[in-house]
Amino acid sequence: MPSEAEAQLLLGFAPSDISTSLDANGLGDVMTAFRTLDDIGEVHGKRVLVRVDLNVPMADGQVSDDTRLRATLPTVTELADKGAVVLLLAHFGRPKGRPSSEFSLSHVVPAYEAVLGRAVRFIDWEAEDAAAGLQPGDVAILENSRFFGGEEKNDPAVVERFARLGDLYVSDAFSAAHRAHASTEGLAHRLPSFAGRAMEAELKALERALGAPERPVAAVVGGAKVSTKLEVLRHLVAKVDHLIIGGGMANTFLAARGVAVGKSLAEHDLAGTALEILDAAERAGCTVHLPYDVVVAKEFAANPPSLRTCNVHEVAADEMILDVGPAAVEALADVLKTCRTLVWNGPLGAFETPPFDAATVALARTAAALTQSGQLVSVAGGGDTVAALNHAGVGDDFSFVSTAGGAFLEWMEGKELPGVKALERT
Ligand code: 3PG
Ligand code: MG
Repeated sequence: MPSEAEAQLLLGFAPSDISTSLDANGLGDVMTAFRTLDDIGEVHGKRVLVRVDLNVPMADGQVSDDTRLRATLPTVTELADKGAVVLLLAHFGRPKGRPSSEFSLSHVVPAYEAVLGRAVRFIDWEAEDAAAGLQPGDVAILENSRFFGGEEKNDPAVVERFARLGDLYVSDAFSAAHRAHASTEGLAHRLPSFAGRAMEAELKALERALGAPERPVAAVVGGAKVSTKLEVLRHLVAKVDHLIIGGGMANTFLAARGVAVGKSLAEHDLAGTALEILDAAERAGCTVHLPYDVVVAKEFAANPPSLRTCNVHEVAADEMILDVGPAAVEALADVLKTCRTLVWNGPLGAFETPPFDAATVALARTAAALTQSGQLVSVAGGGDTVAALNHAGVGDDFSFVSTAGGAFLEWMEGKELPGVKALERT
């Protein structure tokens, strides 16, 4: 007999069902809890401090991935086109409260001008008066907010210093919203505050994925260590119908269940915790999927001679598990086909080293195809995840890919993010 989920699938869904039922579920309503740019009123001639995330990776002095820069464009162009003076406030790296040329946001200005397609002024903390000379429609990047020690302490004096520069505050940095800093949290209480368009898109997508999702819901959680994602797993088992565990984390669970994992990366001291999570999943009616075939090798290298695929119970003492096997991937693809919603964090294998990217690539492509055919709402985020999806060539085919790392994980843990909370209507 088919499960309820399978029966639903057999009945079939028209792709259009998803968008209508999403609205019917009130998913558009999440934003009624927050003030957005729709509530900001007249901005012409006003100075708008926009907290963005310009914390982009650099290689040889150049921005090597401008995703976060592009994410700011809807808000920045909307405000500038309406004649606001747009002052971008952001951190860059971790300069520990001291000015340093290495962490100057001036390094990001040329790349930002390129994505914005307009001239962008740069304003140093020594020369804040320059902000007074800006005209309606001008865009400027303020120097690194973390050059002030009080930024990370949410020091009222730093909040005040930032607040002097603006009439209004827009928060568009979901990826920094897990930090209760002066620029991400304090300012929201000091100036009239609004969620920007990127923040709005993040909040809507996350609500769609875990807040009020279409069921069944699957979560893919991969990555090296269970210890960094314990709270994520604990929260998810109570929320989702299928929990797919991959990466080194899966080895910890397999070992806890008594499977010999050879010299695989595994946290054997967390066996008790892993079993507790499996128990909690069972009580909540969440099916946990662990690989039953795996790709193993005696050494961790690209295409090693000792590479083989085997049943999970046949891993030799001198072998390590480096990816989920093809049979398991096929079974996982079948699980996704029964689901309406997917949230994905972390790769299934050691995806940076071929061929241990195979499971991640195959399952990501299945999720992308289901999304494109309208059967699945797919939301991904966190650390290596975006790189893994881009590697699979499907970064643009998910419903939503978050630009956030740590903030995405904290959201998956069910935590309230201070920079989001501060934007709630009161
Ligand atoms: C990030 O890059 O994850 C965000 O910009 C936050 O940076 P942080 O981890 O240094 O606070
Ligand atoms: Mg971080």
